[in-house]
Amino acid sequence: MNNPLQKIYENNIAWAEKIKTQRPDFFSDLSKQQSPEYLWIGCSDSRVVAEQLVGLQPGELFVHRNIANVVVPTDLNCLSVIQFAVEVLKVKHIIVCGHYGCGGVKASMEGIEHGLIDNWLCHIKSVHQKNEDELLCIADKTERLDRLCELNVIEQVRNICHTTVVQRAWRNNKELSVHGCIYTLETGILKDLNMRFSEIDHTNDIYQLKQAKKNIYQPNLKVMKSDYEGR
Ligand code: CO
Repeated sequence: MNNPLQKIYENNIAWAEKIKTQRPDFFSDLSKQQSPEYLWIGCSDSRVVAEQLVGLQPGELFVHRNIANVVVPTDLNCLSVIQFAVEVLKVKHIIVCGHYGCGGVKASMEGIEHGLIDNWLCHIKSVHQKNEDELLCIADKTERLDRLCELNVIEQVRNICHTTVVQRAWRNNKELSVHGCIYTLETGILKDLNMRFSEIDHTNDIYQLKQAKKNIYQPNLKVMKSDYEGR
């Protein structure tokens, strides 16, 4: 029976052999540990190939991708990636990378039903609503979409800074910066959006988490025990 993934397995063997020829110890070295310096949060779009477009090798980039590179504080998947990257791998930089012409961002502007994904796209609609004054002044539809793609990256960078993981890292004086950039499919060029946050004071007061006083939420065990025994 023909394996529909035959091409993929053949490509894999060719790829592994090419690397082994160039760097015989590559895989054995890499299998021992990973110590990436960067966490990349990008769009799932198949054309935005994280490692390749920044010229990094396997082991150099820790990656999370979802539709339209959204970061929300209720997404356990994305938060777990951020926590593992920051606290275990000790990455120094978190990069949010959007791309112009993003299908997810475009779908959020269409006002037509796409199914379940519309719930996810609500996060981008909120970015639209927040920046409506600016966006509605842009007459050209493509330009407006591209600006929303940029604003979405900016919003997600802020969202990362507000997470408990990043707040705690900064409170403990860990070296960690959060950056935003956007990719142009037509040219392959990455543009720096000059969003760079590296300390707790870079976030609005309402999001800054001070360390709670010890035992503030600990139940009084002695009282509970005597209550129990008294029954
Ligand atoms: Co996209």
